[in-house]
Amino acid sequence: MADSLSVRHLLGIKDLNENDINLILDTAKEFKEVINRPIKKVPSLRDITIANVFFENSTRTRLSFELAEKRLSADVVNFSASGSSVKKGETLLDTVNNILAMKVDMIVMRHSSPGAPHYLSGRIPANVVNAGDGTHEHPTQALLDSFSIREKLGDLAGKRVAIIGDITHSRVALSNIFCLQKQGAEVMVCGPTTLIPKYMSELGIKISHDVREALNWCDVANVLRIQLERQQIKYFPSLREYSMYYGISKKMLDDLDRPIVLMHPGPINRGVELTSDAADSHHSIILDQVENGVAVRMAVLYLLAQM
Ligand code: CP
Repeated sequence: MADSLSVRHLLGIKDLNENDINLILDTAKEFKEVINRPIKKVPSLRDITIANVFFENSTRTRLSFELAEKRLSADVVNFSASGSSVKKGETLLDTVNNILAMKVDMIVMRHSSPGAPHYLSGRIPANVVNAGDGTHEHPTQALLDSFSIREKLGDLAGKRVAIIGDITHSRVALSNIFCLQKQGAEVMVCGPTTLIPKYMSELGIKISHDVREALNWCDVANVLRIQLERQQIKYFPSLREYSMYYGISKKMLDDLDRPIVLMHPGPINRGVELTSDAADSHHSIILDQVENGVAVRMAVLYLLAQM
C-alpha cells in the first residue's frame, strides 16, 4: 500500500482510489488511539495554520475539524460568512485570498454551491478540504461512516448498506455511494421516487421505495434527514406522511430477522426519519460516528499536509 495520497486536495470521494481510502482509514485508526489517551495531542501539524471557512451552518463537521486540527497542534482560525465582509459583497476568491495572505496553509471549506471547493482548488496555492459543497459531496462524512462500519462489522467488501431518505438533496449519499463501492460494498438507496434522482440508476446501485425491503436487505441502514431548507417545491404531501411510510422505529429494527447497524450523519429530525427510541437504541452507532469524525479528519489533514 502506498503511504501517501494520490491527491493534494480532498474535494470528493470520486477522486480517491482504494489505496487513498484505506490509507486514510488506517491512519484514522492510529489517531483514534491517540485521542483516547490522557494526553490527546501530537505535534504532527505544529507550524501549520488551517482556516475553517464555513459559508453554511454546521455543528459536527466544524467542531470536529477544529478539534482534529488542535489535536494535531495546528494553529486554527475560524471564519463564518455571517458577520463577515461577504455580506458587503466580497467574492469567495477574494475572501479566501485575504485569509491566505495571513500565512494560512490549508483551507477547510463548507459552501452551499456544488463545486465551490473545486473552483477554489484551481486558483489558490493552499490545500483545500471539502467540508460539504451543497448537494454534491461530503467526503469526510463518508470516510467517517466507512470507518464506523469497519469498526463495527470489519472489512466492507460484500457488506450491504442501505442509504434511506432524502437522496436528492444529500451530499452524504453521493460520497457514501462512491466510498462504499470503492471498498467492495453493495449499496441500495431507498426513499420516495421524488427524493431519488434519476441518475442514481446509472451508479450500479439498487433502488427501493419500500423501507421494510431496505431494512430486510441491509447490514447497515444509513438514514438521512429530510432537507426542507433545500426543497423549493413539495416532494411529498407532509412530514407526517413521510414519517408514516419511511420513518424507522425501534420496533421495526427489533422485529428484523437479524441485527443491523443504524447510522445517521446528523442532525436528526426526531420523529420524522427516525423515532427517538430508534435513534437512542442499541442498534444505533450515531454518536460513534461523531467520535470517529475527529480521528478521520486528523488523518485527512495529516496526510494532505505531507503532499
Ligand atoms: N453531518 C454533518 O455534516 O453535520 P453538520 O451539518 O452539523 O456539520
